[in-house]
Amino acid sequence: MSDVQIGKSQVYASTLGLGTNKIGGHNLFKNLDDEVGKEVLRTALRNGVTLLDTAYAYGFGQSEKLIGEVLQEAEFDRARVIIATKAAQVPGNEEQLDNSPEFLQNAVEDALKRLQTEYIDIFYIHFPDEVTKKNEAVKALHELKEAGKIRAIGVSNFSLTQIKEANLDGYVDVVEDNYNLLHRKAETELFPYLAKHNISFIPYFPLASGLLSGKYTADQKFAENDSRSKKADFTGERYQKIIATMTEMKIIAHRNDATVPQLVLAWYLKNPHIAAVIPGARNVEQMVSNAKATDIRISNDDYELIDDLFRF
Ligand SMILES: NC(=O)c1ccc[n+]([C@@H]2O[C@H](COP(=O)([O-])OP(=O)(O)OC[C@H]3O[C@@H](n4cnc5c(N)ncnc54)[C@H](OP(=O)(O)O)[C@@H]3O)[C@@H](O)[C@H]2O)c1
Repeated sequence: MSDVQIGKSQVYASTLGLGTNKIGGHNLFKNLDDEVGKEVLRTALRNGVTLLDTAYAYGFGQSEKLIGEVLQEAEFDRARVIIATKAAQVPGNEEQLDNSPEFLQNAVEDALKRLQTEYIDIFYIHFPDEVTKKNEAVKALHELKEAGKIRAIGVSNFSLTQIKEANLDGYVDVVEDNYNLLHRKAETELFPYLAKHNISFIPYFPLASGLLSGKYTADQKFAENDSRSKKADFTGERYQKIIATMTEMKIIAHRNDATVPQLVLAWYLKNPHIAAVIPGARNVEQMVSNAKATDIRISNDDYELIDDLFRF
């Protein structure tokens, strides 16, 4: 698996990472088993994945804690792993966001303890708060970088205006935001800005929460209490259009000797604006399969074809 440099930092991460909101993220998903989650982490590391994307918000520290525990196991070398974590939610009052320098300093110290490590490879401000000047927040992270506590600086869920303010001193290395074949707003203004300023982009929801895995059918019913039943992608005409497109994706996947999720992930990996992808995996099987996406080489024709298929 190849590595990619994160922004201007000295961090080199595997282009195929693992999103860990289903590892310890009990506040976000039901019926998660921490032992399964740890086995998914081990499987990722054994399959050459070095980039682990976590956050305080995933289980309010539990996801970070599980990562810390696995990295203590003799089989794994902390130095070879790229831990990306995030903070902004105030512990105990998670609806409230804080980007103040003091909050970020404490958040990094707390994350270091949960992760049982001396440094964090990529630290993101998870969400913008309403009051802190973004360049002041990033300056605090720059000081943590100089102190060796973090190695690269990221922001997530920032508008382009907020990213520009955050990067006034040129300190931002990476942006993480919602982007996938179904949600491509980032392409028009964000991608050109990031390319010009040598800032990496890591999309979240690369599989559109499973919709782009191709496993759903036209007559699929999502339960009332399933958040997907209220999302535009999963309802009405748009859902039917997506399912029809996934049928075409199955044909393209077949001729590339790939599964649909592998094809989708390989499409992102061929996109020069995308540094790395961090699909979530609920179980070991998904992890093993997703790690193989880096073996798929899509032709330029198929790349363009997929690009066109999703322009609706
Ligand atoms: N910065 C942010 O604010 C932010 C926000 C959201 C997410 N994230 C990060 O981005 C990561 C990715 O997002 P996500 O995990 O929510 O969504 P995702 O990667 O778009 O989708 C993950 C889901 O796709 C399905 N899936 C994965 N591999 C599969 C395979 N090989 N075959 C069939 N289905 C497969 C699984 O669905 P089932 O569970 O139905 O099996 C899995 O839970 C997160 O884990 C997190 O680290 C960041």
